[in-house]
Amino acid sequence: MSVAEQNLTSRITYTDLYRRWEMNNWSAMEIDFSADRDGWRGLTEIQRKSALWIYSMFFFGEDRVADDLSPYIDAAPTEEQKYFLTTQQVDEARHAVFFHRFFSEVIGAGDDLASTLAFTEQHLGWGYKQVFNRLDRMADELRRDRSLPKFAQAITLYHLIVEASMAQPGQHFIEDFFVREGTMPGFSAGMEHVSRDEQRHIGFGVKVLSELLAESDECKAAVDELMTEVMPWLSSVFIPPNWDREYTRCYGFELEEIAAWGFKAVEMKWKAIGYPMQEMPPGVAPIDFELEPHERAANVIRMSQAGVIGEPGQDPDGSPEIQQLYFDSVSRAVDPSVVNGHGPFTVQWRFSDAAPWHLVVDNGSTRAAAGEARAADVTLEASWKDFIEISKGALAPPKALVQRRMKLRGGPRDLLRFAKLFG
Ligand SMILES: [Fe+2]
Ligand SMILES: [Fe+2]
Repeated sequence: MSVAEQNLTSRITYTDLYRRWEMNNWSAMEIDFSADRDGWRGLTEIQRKSALWIYSMFFFGEDRVADDLSPYIDAAPTEEQKYFLTTQQVDEARHAVFFHRFFSEVIGAGDDLASTLAFTEQHLGWGYKQVFNRLDRMADELRRDRSLPKFAQAITLYHLIVEASMAQPGQHFIEDFFVREGTMPGFSAGMEHVSRDEQRHIGFGVKVLSELLAESDECKAAVDELMTEVMPWLSSVFIPPNWDREYTRCYGFELEEIAAWGFKAVEMKWKAIGYPMQEMPPGVAPIDFELEPHERAANVIRMSQAGVIGEPGQDPDGSPEIQQLYFDSVSRAVDPSVVNGHGPFTVQWRFSDAAPWHLVVDNGSTRAAAGEARAADVTLEASWKDFIEISKGALAPPKALVQRRMKLRGGPRDLLRFAKLFG
């Protein structure tokens, strides 16, 4: 972590964060939406469809985070943290009220909170729902277990995943457009307040995690576990309905831009926490950090659109280009220390409906290549589709073996090493 980043987290105190909350208080009830109704009618059809999709994620999200924050207040180890979290809970309720007013007064969707929330559900995608269902379960876990590792996990999911990785990039782009156009003055004014609040919340999460991770390896391990679980969902959060690129283009940006902006922002936050993403276990973020954020984003989106990562039950593309991208990330996801001292270890994949690939792990370096290896320690046979389902966690390996949809060959020790290699 650079000195500047170190200063950033240690300089901000919980008192500062509280003071900023008092200074930046605002009223969701006083936002004037009268000009926004014309602004809404002036949007093109695709802009309105896209807005419904994005704002539904915002409104539903604000409602959930307001509901799920209470156990955080109970579990926070210091009074200062508890006070801040109570201010945050008020903020989240205010954000939900703001979005509800926008939906019912400008869009004309629903009257009370319950009916407007029910209206938003049709617009929520698979990755989004996975993350928010996990946030609900996390709140339950935190009610039963107020330990510091559980608290670190919970803050990671809420402040670093939901707020910093999902909400902030979305806000950034949508706010930009309407500020530029000036056609939705009420919405723009509210969003400016919401983003400022969210920056404060994320600042709090960064500070808490920097303190917890500096003190405890157990907290770090808990964070690793949560990140491994959640990262596969994140790549799907911004997928527009039917992969229709017009959903973002009509607001002047590409999916890759929003993802690249998100990558950069989130990486900076983990650096400030003192735990850069590059130092996380190999399976957490199997990304080539040498690439520019835009290129990384483009690769993740290509794999997602090809169906090899993200939602299960797709027909995955098995073309050479997609296999190359996929196995590049497999080679970064394995833990090479598992085979240390045991010479090169080779895994061979044979697919009934796609080209074979192999992976060689040798003394800390791992490489994947197309084709047959000269000799393999473990050989896996399956269809490309079943293999991808297994890797997404949608088909359990024992079931695949029993149903003979997957065959594994290798000595017992090599099979054990193979299992460990992929966590
Ligand atoms: Fe919020
Ligand atoms: Fe927030």
